[in-house]
Amino acid sequence: MAKLKHVLVVPFPAQGHLTPLLKLSHCIADHGVKVTVVNTESVHAQVVAANQQDEGSNRIRFVAFPDGLETDEERKDWAKLLESISRVMPGHLQEFIEKMKRQSNSNEDEKISFVIADMTAGWALEVAKRMGIERAGFWPAAVLSLALTLHIPKLIEGGVIDNDGIALKKDAIPISKKLPSYKSDDLTWSFPEDLMIQKTLFRWALAIVHHSTHSTSYLCNSFHELESSACGIIPGVLPVGPLLASTRLLHNRGSLWKEDLTCSNWLDQHPPQSVIYVAFGSTTIFSPEQFYELAHGLEQIGQPFLWVVRPEMTDGPVNKFHSAFLQRVRNHGKVVQWAPQEEVLAHPSVACFFTHCGWNSTLEGLSNGVPLLCRPYFADQHLNRSIICDVWRVGLGVDGDENGVITRHEVRTKILTVLGSDEIRSNCLRVKEMARKSVSEGGSSLKNLESFIELIKA
Ligand code: UDX
Repeated sequence: MAKLKHVLVVPFPAQGHLTPLLKLSHCIADHGVKVTVVNTESVHAQVVAANQQDEGSNRIRFVAFPDGLETDEERKDWAKLLESISRVMPGHLQEFIEKMKRQSNSNEDEKISFVIADMTAGWALEVAKRMGIERAGFWPAAVLSLALTLHIPKLIEGGVIDNDGIALKKDAIPISKKLPSYKSDDLTWSFPEDLMIQKTLFRWALAIVHHSTHSTSYLCNSFHELESSACGIIPGVLPVGPLLASTRLLHNRGSLWKEDLTCSNWLDQHPPQSVIYVAFGSTTIFSPEQFYELAHGLEQIGQPFLWVVRPEMTDGPVNKFHSAFLQRVRNHGKVVQWAPQEEVLAHPSVACFFTHCGWNSTLEGLSNGVPLLCRPYFADQHLNRSIICDVWRVGLGVDGDENGVITRHEVRTKILTVLGSDEIRSNCLRVKEMARKSVSEGGSSLKNLESFIELIKA
């Protein structure tokens, strides 16, 4: 009997990275390949606490390694987290692969035959290369942002950015005649609010460029028809998205927070296309002032809304305001700590999605044909907003006032504009159909996935 192939999947320890790699893992396991997913101990503990264990959970094996940090407070510091992970995880990974090899003396199926690693955890590709194991990178964001990242050395060489990633001119940045120019505000490492964070993000981007040389193929959670120009300029790019949660992932999507399962029932009670869904992903932090403006804006629309307010989503206390707000809006607003987002976006009562433009949220919105209102927070989200609003024209951006605060007035008027735009709605439906086709029989992403699985099994 042919021996089972065993793939090791290494995500970066954050929600927007774990989610798509878990979906990919299930697609691979569907084809009779054994899959082990590597998490940090801290992420593993969060996933176990937040998700039900069901039949689907057993199809994938999880292993957890220490990330080298002592406290969750330290983990909130990106510089510390990135430094610690890339220092301690490669050793744990190597030990684990060696252990699996030793175990293969008694059970051949244990030996790791392939590694798929998030390119933001590219040290795992380096370990695999050193150990002579076949491998592929995984890019969890837009192909357009990968193209920008891989182009960094040329941008430095050409004097477009300095060695800290700061744009030297305000001009638009061209990287290829085949692509629209990037706005300097859309550089994915740009974080003018805190230059230390910007430096960390830029060093992280440089590490991605370095580690990209350890693989010749890059799986992407996108689809060719959506980003054909960007796909065309990166050799080895393999779009396999949109990666969607299969029914097997119904109770364990790898959420880091417990999903509020009352959302579906609540949505059922509303007419088609009436609810505004508001969620800003896993890392966005608001000032209390911004939080109040959003809340007032939603309250003033007078239309039903479902708002995800993560614990610790503001950098100052808002509890007193929040309780009074919940009282006032109780008849038409629902606030939860974490929603089953894909189910929510697929619900017919959802009319639009007020989002931070994280790539997963963007794709989930597009796959369900839901118009987007865009308020990016950091990293690739500004670039995503530009493509959403200026290229695909499936949403509208909010801009903020002279202090960068999005006012209640802007929230109200922009939501009403998105809801009233026939152009945005028809573009959304067109993209939704393209997305559906790409993952259906004979579609571009499904074909790419199938040929990749053949490669794993060879
Ligand atoms: C960040 C980046 O912005 C993103 O572009 C990058 O590719 C990964 O890291 P994040 O803030 O986590 O991502 O946002 P996003 O990429 O949208 O991922 C969030 C995930 O959490 C989505 O899959 C979404 O469905 C899920 N989610 C969010 C929930 O399940 N429930 C919620 O209430 C909110």
